[in-house]
Amino acid sequence: MSIQPPPFPVRSYKATMVDPVTLLPRDEREAALEAAGYNVFNLDSEDVFVDLLTDSGTGTMSNQQWAALFRGDEAYAGSDGFRELETAVEDVMGFDRIVPAHQGRGAENVIYGALVEEGDTVLNNAHFDTTRAHVAANGGDPVDCPVDGATDMHADDPFKGNFSVETARAVVDDVGADNVPVVVLTITNNTMAGQPVSVENTREVADFADSIDATLVVDACRFAENAHFVQQRETEFADASVADIAREQLSYADACVMSGKKDGLVNIGGFVGVADGQDELFEACRQRGILFEGFSTYGGMAGRDLAAFAEGLREAVEPPYVAERVAQVESLCEQLADRDVPVYQPAGGHAVYIDANEALPHIPREEFPGQAFVCELYREGGVRGVELGRFAFPETERADLVRLALPRRTYGPDHVEHVADTAEAVCERADEIPGLEIVSNSSMPELRHFSAELRPLD
Ligand code: F0G
Repeated sequence: MSIQPPPFPVRSYKATMVDPVTLLPRDEREAALEAAGYNVFNLDSEDVFVDLLTDSGTGTMSNQQWAALFRGDEAYAGSDGFRELETAVEDVMGFDRIVPAHQGRGAENVIYGALVEEGDTVLNNAHFDTTRAHVAANGGDPVDCPVDGATDMHADDPFKGNFSVETARAVVDDVGADNVPVVVLTITNNTMAGQPVSVENTREVADFADSIDATLVVDACRFAENAHFVQQRETEFADASVADIAREQLSYADACVMSGKKDGLVNIGGFVGVADGQDELFEACRQRGILFEGFSTYGGMAGRDLAAFAEGLREAVEPPYVAERVAQVESLCEQLADRDVPVYQPAGGHAVYIDANEALPHIPREEFPGQAFVCELYREGGVRGVELGRFAFPETERADLVRLALPRRTYGPDHVEHVADTAEAVCERADEIPGLEIVSNSSMPELRHFSAELRPLD
């Protein structure tokens, strides 16, 4: 008998260290939820069985990364880890100069503070929350330019994360090219359900940015997942390696912003990468890096973190890893769809998104159906997701989505199946699920979903 290869990519690693998880009894989950004020950010991690709150900094490092941690050189200036990270970024992403930062938003502060001035407009396929906040904090107006169909849960477009150059041109006609110093391309597009961006679109955006003399920044947090999608879906790259695609796609950028917590496969870290010919930008970022993050060869990271990050970047573009990673997300999406849970399709690279308005149609938007669904996932199966609807973004016109983000190399197929069964059980008793009201708000309304407490309505 010959062994057939499995129909999906199998895990390209084995676990030799485990982190126990427990499914608490239902009454204890109920009590934990109530004590958390029906806000899962307030839950203790030990009370969570499958934690899909975020894919950021929650993944599993390899033995090589742990070895790198132990080798860590803690020199304030010129550490080995910094050189290793600099070399890895050049090899994997093609930027030969970096300004390290403690995480992605630190890097955003460094670069957007250098590029954005009061009254400027910044164009992005879709701003992630922290990107939007940094543009706004510098007096800029963040404008999203998604393609038509990006928010359509069922449109079968391979690149729903793309940037609409047409929309961007209309904005430029309105505000004037002089007021648009930066164009950002976020790959994958987290705000648009983790959908990928094609290389063809990247080239168009680069030409557009060039035509208005703007700096093109690529938010590269999930660049490896994006490259995998390009290989699978863009004919020109069907025979190219993920590593080659990643370098090609990033070669069009003047700079990148990176959070190591995603495709850097580490728990903390980030940087700004700067392309050749952008000397002024590099110098401005370097100075801001020293001011806000730490000296230019550590930027808020320990020496050991720099070394583990360097190794993680190389592993992120290895085909067995990234194919299996994205396949696991796809598998969760398919299992949910098979169980009639309303999900955004196709699946994104790092997460699956459930439409709570469709799942809980009896709950009006002002009673937070997304947050109600999140609470029920925990109550039903100890699963922690996150609301990305009216609770997180009070002004949003989009559906009340619930995101289930999979940490990298962390959970197995049994956990994925448990999540799908849990979501199905929630949908089956949708009628019994009440809406919620806020009982204690946060002092910063835009950050309320991190700390506000709620209670179920009668
Ligand atoms: N850009 C994108 C596209 C992101 O998804 C994130 C973080 C950041 C920038 C900021 O990076 O967290 O290292 O400061 N996203 C996480 C998430 C928090 O859950 O989606 P950071």
